Amino acid sequence: MAEHPFALGLAPRSDRTESFVASGAADIARLKPVQPVTLLRPHAARAAARFFVEKFPGKSLYAVKANPSPDLLRVLWDGGVTHYDVASIGEVRLVSETLPDATLCFMHPVKAVEAIAEAYHGHGVRTFSLDSLEELDKIVSACATDGVAASDLNLLVRVRVSSEHSKLSLASKFGADPSELKALLMAARQASDALGLCFHVGSQAMTPAAYAEAMNRVRDAIVEAAVTVDIVDVGGGFPSSYPGMEPPPLEAYFAVIHESFEKLPISYSAELWCEPGRALCAEYASVLVRVEKRRGDELYINDGAYGTLFDAAHIGWRFPVRLVRDEDSDTRPHSFSFYGPTCDDLDHMVGPFELPGDVGPGDYIEIGMLGAYGSAMRTRFNGFGSANGWSVVVTDAPMASLYGDVAAPSRSNVVTL
Ligand SMILES: Cc1ncc(COP(=O)(O)O)c(C=O)c1O
Repeated sequence: MAEHPFALGLAPRSDRTESFVASGAADIARLKPVQPVTLLRPHAARAAARFFVEKFPGKSLYAVKANPSPDLLRVLWDGGVTHYDVASIGEVRLVSETLPDATLCFMHPVKAVEAIAEAYHGHGVRTFSLDSLEELDKIVSACATDGVAASDLNLLVRVRVSSEHSKLSLASKFGADPSELKALLMAARQASDALGLCFHVGSQAMTPAAYAEAMNRVRDAIVEAAVTVDIVDVGGGFPSSYPGMEPPPLEAYFAVIHESFEKLPISYSAELWCEPGRALCAEYASVLVRVEKRRGDELYINDGAYGTLFDAAHIGWRFPVRLVRDEDSDTRPHSFSFYGPTCDDLDHMVGPFELPGDVGPGDYIEIGMLGAYGSAMRTRFNGFGSANGWSVVVTDAPMASLYGDVAAPSRSNVVTL
């Protein structure tokens, strides 16, 4: 067994990010790590942040749920993202602690009254979303001081919109129906300093038309309620690039959103916001896994459904893969499925994942585009995995990108191992 700490023991006591920087997966595979290693590309997250900050025609809030890593939060902050969409008191505390100067927006429409009170009185949160009169009452009472209602609330009413253009639906659980909107908007107007409307078109929206259609809903609601609206928040849903799910350029989404916003009767005085999660962090991380066994075209690897591959297992998403060997294989590509390390049949990723036909036990595979909803979903089920695992910063380009060529500028502390 190699002597590097990567190879020591099967269950490290603590998670860590290695202090060295490597040029890519091959450097790490040479150390023969026993456990999956997360390869982090801060330069890719920074490029995404700069892209949204410079090109989205309004303000971009990072949706923390997509990847709550404090390292990533700092990269986005340094890239110019000043506002954060938080959905739980845990996320409120995390972002307040990591980025004390950030502006937090509590955008979960169903919150515990205690969470609202702590967010408002303890962390300075002033922006909340809601989709019912009951939630409005909760916010008003939790934010009052000595029985006096707060006068500095920004309240965003979530509108239910279709998810038909998106790969992951968010159309059922949250959002007020058109029939409820007038009463809700009028009541929220009374309780707010700034009033807004927000929606979510579903995650990984494959066409900009999703936003145009949702904006029509927003326009109808504003006209019917005849209230002044200060903020329109088009939510998340901005896509990333995965095998078989290559979206149009993000500029096309921004153009459609800008055009739809300009047509709203309130555009001259209102702010436009968005809440990207996936698009800001999908390219941030990939995972280096080891093959433990091959059975025909099934590879048993050391990460899976209960680790970073939740989406690959549960919704059948394909992620880009590459075999990481010192010498390239010249064997023809072959389609594989993966089994993860736990004892469950469910720990199965159907793929198909295209790899050279001679891949086998002891080989390392890099699985790309796992920065969004990959690391964030990891569990310790069955004694595998750890909260964050082992991470190493690498400087090469992500396996796919919507932001052009995003390899890191050369650095003097890159080690070739
Ligand atoms: C309220 C809200 N905003 C933003 C996001 C981020 O969405 P995405 O990662 O698709 O951009 C989510 C995801 O669930 C959400 O619920």
